[in-house]
Parts: sequence; structure tokens; C-alpha cells
Amino acid sequence: MNNTSNWLVHDHRQYDISLDECEMAADLGEWKNAKRLFENFVMDLKLHMQMEDEVLYPLFINENGDPEGMISHLSEEHDYLVHLVNDLSYIIKSNDFDHFLESIEPLHTAMKLHNEHEEKVFLNMANQSILMQRDLIIERLKAMQNKQVRRDWDF
Ligand SMILES: [Fe+2]
Ligand SMILES: [Fe+2]
Repeated sequence: MNNTSNWLVHDHRQYDISLDECEMAADLGEWKNAKRLFENFVMDLKLHMQMEDEVLYPLFINENGDPEGMISHLSEEHDYLVHLVNDLSYIIKSNDFDHFLESIEPLHTAMKLHNEHEEKVFLNMANQSILMQRDLIIERLKAMQNKQVRRDWDF
């Protein structure tokens, strides 16, 4: 992957690692640790999605329109991920590993698929004009850190 896409999707791999770590902790019966890892994962993911929902997706639509509904599909995948994360946030409280596995596995799979899909779309859509706005876009992404989340999370 080249530098172009890197600054757009920099922490996708980290979410994979975080879910693996959370699953390992739960497997060892370290529920307190598993819950802490899950909370950190959710905090990071909320910000990541907000950056995409409110900065990157509108930017791509503004530049290229939404050919074949590509951005809309990504946005729907976010809705599905939020639903799975919300489910897991209840299930993790039960300290029941089998139940937990049934919930984290679909989340992990859906997240991997979404990230791969998104990287392809971004790579496709990152035209010269977007690359030239790189510094401005990075500023706008950073500004999301202090902004209220618009998306509805159950927790
Ligand atoms: Fe992403
Ligand atoms: Fe995304």
C-alpha cells in the first residue's frame, strides 16, 4: 500500500489487533481486562467512524459523486458494525465465553470485510484533487476529536 492510502486508513490494522487481544483476555477468563480492551476499542472506533462519516465520505461524494452507491454501501456497513458493537457491549457483561465468542466473531469478520472494502474504495476515489488537499483534510480529521458524535450509539 502506498503513502496515499496510508494516511486515509492508518489504523485499520489496529482494530484487528485490539479485537484479538480482547478475545484472548476473555479466553483466559480475564474479564476485567477484556472489558477494558473492548472499551478502548470502542472509543477508537467511534472516532474513526466519525472521521469517515463526517469528513471523508462527504469529501469523496463532493469530489466524485457516489458512483454505484459505493459510499452509501460503506455507510451502511458502518450501521451494521455499530449494531454488532452494541450487541457485544451487552454480551461482554455476562462473562460467558461461548456467548461472547458468538458475538465477537461476526463483529471481527464484518470489520475486516468493511476495512478491506473501504481501502479499495478510497484507493479508487483518491484523485489528484483530494491528494492536494491532504493537509487540510488531516486538519479536519483532527478537529473531530473535540466534536460531539452525531451517530447514535446505545452506550
Ligand atoms: Fe476506516
Ligand atoms: Fe469505515
